[in-house]
Order: sequence, then C-alpha cells, then structure tokens
Amino acid sequence: EMLLEKKKDYLGKRVLVTAGPTVEYIDPVRFISNRSSGKMGYAIARAARNRGAEVILITGPTNLAPPVGVKVIRVKTAEEMFKEVMKYYPEVDIAIKAAAVADYKVEGTSKVKIKKTEDSFELKLIKNKDILQEMGKAKSKQILVGFAAETNDLIKNAKLKLEGKNLDMIIANDVTEENSGFDHDTNTVKIIKNDGQIIQLPNMLKEELANIILNYILELKVKR
Ligand code: CTP
Ligand code: CA
Repeated sequence: EMLLEKKKDYLGKRVLVTAGPTVEYIDPVRFISNRSSGKMGYAIARAARNRGAEVILITGPTNLAPPVGVKVIRVKTAEEMFKEVMKYYPEVDIAIKAAAVADYKVEGTSKVKIKKTEDSFELKLIKNKDILQEMGKAKSKQILVGFAAETNDLIKNAKLKLEGKNLDMIIANDVTEENSGFDHDTNTVKIIKNDGQIIQLPNMLKEELANIILNYILELKVKR
C-alpha cells in the first residue's frame, strides 16, 4: 500500500467523489436518512489525492474529518447533491459515486416544526432524482463508476445498474456480508467492469480497497 500511495499515477486527473448519506427533511428539526458513514467515499478521495489527482468531494453529513488537499463540498439533501454534482461533473475525468443517496424524499416538507397534535401521522415519500442515472445520460468524456448495495442477487442486480445507468464500472457491495458495508472500516465487494470482467475481492480495509478501485479504473478501456 505504501508503494501504491507513492505512485503519482493520477497526476493531472480531475476526480469527483460523492460520499455519505443524504438527509431528507420532514420539518426544520427532523429528517430521514440512512446508515452510511461516508468512510468508503472519503477513503477513495484520500487515495486519489495521494496519487496526484485533483479531487472534489461532495459529501452528505458525516462525522469524518475533511481530507486535506481536497475540495470538499457539503450537502444535505439529494437535491443539493444533484445540483453540486452536475456543476462539477462536466469538468472532471473520473466520477465515483459512493454516496448512499436517499431514494425518497418527503412530499411537502413542513417549513415549521410539526406539533404533536394528531394521534397518528402519515408521511408521504416521493422518489428523488437518480443522480447517477442523470450522470450516465450526460456522460461525455468521463469515466463513470457507481456502487451497488445489495442484500440478494448481487451480481445480477449490480449488472442491471451498470447497464441501466451507463456506467463504466460498478462496485457491488453485499451489505449482508460480515464486516462489510455500512459503518465498517472494512468492506467485501466484487468489481464489475464494462467488459463484463468480475473481480472478486476478499474482506479488506476501505483504505486498501480504495486503491484497488483506483487501479482498476486506470485499466478500463472506454470508447468515447
Ligand atoms: N444513486 C444516485 N441517486 C439516487 C440513488 C442512487 O446517484 N437517487 C447512486 C448511488 O450513489 C450508487 C448507485 O446509484 O452509486 C446505486 O445505488 P443503489 O442504492 O445500490 O441502487 P438504486 O439505483 O438506488 O436502486 P435500489 O436502491 O432500488 O436497489
Ligand atoms: Ca437506492
């Protein structure tokens, strides 16, 4: 890993990374979100920076320290993430979408704190824009890499996302694996490339996995 980190093979490349969860507000003091810690995305941002890349990290709320030498843009909602991503996406060479974007937002977020007047209360959720899918549609020169969080049919579901979102590579994450996924320091994934190659990886530190993901990105053959 030390050797890998000394190689400046990302010099001159602009890399956009998204990380963390998004939060979707119910009212000014309440929200729905998910268990994403942001560790995977931050590890990728740091690894890319160490290898010489110019890195833009667009992140939902996390408890992680902002990586030094990286342009960090903080967002809360999926809508904010979409706006910031689309602002920087045209200028980057590589985009890696590790964020756990909330699939739904609250319809009609209240501008004032909701009082507990009622005995029961229903929340209506409506679909958020699929940021990665929009990036796939708008893709020109960029290499686009996504993640897939699955509990079943890992390869089948991840391949559907790879094709459906016009990606060049996807990191398929079985979130039921031990010491893997949400909030762990380690992860177990399979990487699926645009040529159909599947790389099975053992459980490893997210720092180490970040470097392996960056290695495979450089190997991708993309016709543009
Ligand atoms: N993603 C996104 N915008 C969304 C939802 C997901 O950009 N509104 C991105 C994630 O950042 C990830 C990829 O899409 O890189 C796959 O996310 P995942 O939750 O695994 O799949 P979904 O497409 O949301 O489908 P589902 O949750 O139904 O499996
Ligand atoms: Ca989802």
